[in-house]
Amino acid sequence: MPAHVKIFDTTMRDGEQSPGASMTLDEKLELAQWLDATGVDVIEAGFPISSNGDFEAVRAVAGVVKESVVCGLSRAGAKDIDRCWEAIRGAQRPRIHSFLSTSPIHRKHKLQMDQDQVLDAITFSVSHARNLCDDVEWSAEDATRTERDFLRRCVEAAIKAGATTINVPDTVGYSFPQEYGEIFADLIASVPGADKVVFSAHCHNDLGLAVANSIAAVMAGARQIECAINGLGERAGNAALEEVVMALRVRGDVLPYETKIDSTRLMRASQMVSRITGFPVQYNKAIVGKNAFSHESGIHQDGMLKNAQTYEIMRPEDVGQGGTSLVLGKLSGRAAFKDKLADLGYELAANEFQDAFTRFKELADRKRHVYDDDIIALVDDQIAHSHDAIQVKRLRVVAGTEGPQTAELDLEIDGEHRWTTARGNGPVDAIFAAIRSLIPHDAKLDLYQVHAVTEGTDAQAEVSVRLIENGRVGAARAADADTLVASAKAYVAALNRLAAKRAKGQDAQESAA
Ligand code: KIV
Ligand code: ZN
Repeated sequence: MPAHVKIFDTTMRDGEQSPGASMTLDEKLELAQWLDATGVDVIEAGFPISSNGDFEAVRAVAGVVKESVVCGLSRAGAKDIDRCWEAIRGAQRPRIHSFLSTSPIHRKHKLQMDQDQVLDAITFSVSHARNLCDDVEWSAEDATRTERDFLRRCVEAAIKAGATTINVPDTVGYSFPQEYGEIFADLIASVPGADKVVFSAHCHNDLGLAVANSIAAVMAGARQIECAINGLGERAGNAALEEVVMALRVRGDVLPYETKIDSTRLMRASQMVSRITGFPVQYNKAIVGKNAFSHESGIHQDGMLKNAQTYEIMRPEDVGQGGTSLVLGKLSGRAAFKDKLADLGYELAANEFQDAFTRFKELADRKRHVYDDDIIALVDDQIAHSHDAIQVKRLRVVAGTEGPQTAELDLEIDGEHRWTTARGNGPVDAIFAAIRSLIPHDAKLDLYQVHAVTEGTDAQAEVSVRLIENGRVGAARAADADTLVASAKAYVAALNRLAAKRAKGQDAQESAA
């Protein structure tokens, strides 16, 4: 029997700490339910003491998740731990995850604590958490830069105080696989009580080694990997969940481990996280990138036609990549559209389905071939923006060699129509000027990016916009058959995001913790 490796998803906690990647409560609920049904063992839903919004989101996630353990992060103080417990106690299977830095550089500059004080704080925090909850994870922040002997003593103290999982994070993404594996082998062999707990890997990707390090840890005895969809996370991110899962699966010959993950749901998870955060997935991203299964060179295509295994170590359908199959056209009816949505992993309420169907028909009228990717872009766009307070209602643009480039824009703002005309240095500049005149703001445009959703000149455009205002980040994506309409919608959606953050009083410390 292959040993079970637990998959601990931290997209909603470490992932959300990426500047601009913050998620609303509804978005967290949607993602948590998807991860739960995908077979993720532990969902880290947030850091409850960090804000009231985070507390409420963790509590709501705890209320809806059925199978997965729901975990909240907390520092070492009693107040943090109590707040964390308050947020997760309603879960079917709650876990408190408490952490404390152990490395000399963190002890000196961040904590101003000596070794004995750190050991006392570990004993206190883990015992306090264990008095509340049977499932307690303890993390040695910056473990990989900690003196080995002191790390052993910290882990021993945490186990003695009742920790059930010991996490050994490579917080700064500094370790090499062999080194990281060696730390696990050493702790497991030498710390009393190590055989009673689960050891966990948590790797950051600063040197591009997060997945390799996580696998090395498993080979050395770790039985939990902390990871995030699309590798989201602080700085260069965490180990990518989809990569870790498929590495274990594809290389079962040398890695005799299994996870509970239904890998056919990975692609949808990736798209969901990309839509929620507004962070596009790079085309050549392993497993879930658009090109991960494309073969361009003649030699490769020839080999693929003879036998797919010549150049493919896994099948696109194993990870839920439907490819660009031609699906529906303008004559397709409701039943076919409903079937396709179910295939793509969407469950829409009746009114949402009706809206999506209307939009699909409009698209099919404008575009000869409607592909899976078109439908995903269309439905994701609807899910992300249909409840926004500000909506683009009408746009007319004068572009081309005969200026002046002008945008005539009609917005609905909290149910009221407002319109204006503005000029700009090109059509996009004119549109953004019109938006600025209807909704005056100081946010700076940090990113404007256009992607074609599919091949062909009639492809839908997917536009990403990122705005920064006083350290707050508003990032959003929007899709439309017209690139300029998609641009207007993406900019307005990013403004909606900023407005929501302003209203919640979320301040500049988006990446705190
Ligand atoms: O990277 C890290 O050390 C962390 C801990 C809080 C687990 O995210
Ligand atoms: Zn981390």
